Amino acid sequence: MVYFAYNLAFHDHVQSKLQAEIDEAYFKCGGSGIDFGEVNGLEYLDLCINESLRIYSPVSRIMRCASNDVIVNGLKIPKRVMVIAPTGALCVDPDLWDDPMSFKPERMSDVKDVNSVIYQPFGDGPRKCVGLKFALLEMKIAFGTILRKYTINPAEGTPKPPLELKNFRTTSPVEDIRLCFTPRT
Ligand code: HEM
Repeated sequence: MVYFAYNLAFHDHVQSKLQAEIDEAYFKCGGSGIDFGEVNGLEYLDLCINESLRIYSPVSRIMRCASNDVIVNGLKIPKRVMVIAPTGALCVDPDLWDDPMSFKPERMSDVKDVNSVIYQPFGDGPRKCVGLKFALLEMKIAFGTILRKYTINPAEGTPKPPLELKNFRTTSPVEDIRLCFTPRT
């Protein structure tokens, strides 16, 4: 959520477009609050969240330990060897993504077609994140509510993008992120 708020703070045009989408959803619901159906219909919010998870992946690598000797694509992996997939690095590899450190939500419009090996912020396969749907819904409800009322801007001293991350399987910003939430008029 912090990475997402940070990305919006530094991309006014994206945030304005998102607020327009959210305002419209509120309007359709009679202005009181957005319901489950409306939240799921916020397509631009989906693109923005996916793009934010790509640039700053909260989990930087996925590890598996071979329980038996196994051969994968001709490569022998002996029992007890740890295999590490650098999922965060794959999400920003310039050989795989055009201008990878730029926040461009539109590029995620065909996320279902993106190779699930190169974009897997929640992992992949039978052990992928069990909280995936909950996490996405939570983010959509939180930002659908916040952006209806506030505009997020960088505060003084906030590091400019791209953010430098500390990386111990899960990532966190090296420097503190300070943001201003200004009530919308
Ligand atoms: C943006 C938020 C989140 C991200 C990026 C994330 C990412 C991940 C990743 C990459 C894995 C490892 C998958 C693998 O090893 O293949 C994982 C596992 C897991 N996540 Fe999440 N997660 C998030 C939120 C949540 C939430 C909200 C919950 C619970 C409510 C949750 C529960 C779990 C559990 C229980 C596992 C272990 C699954 C297993 O080993 O079978 N996660 N998550």
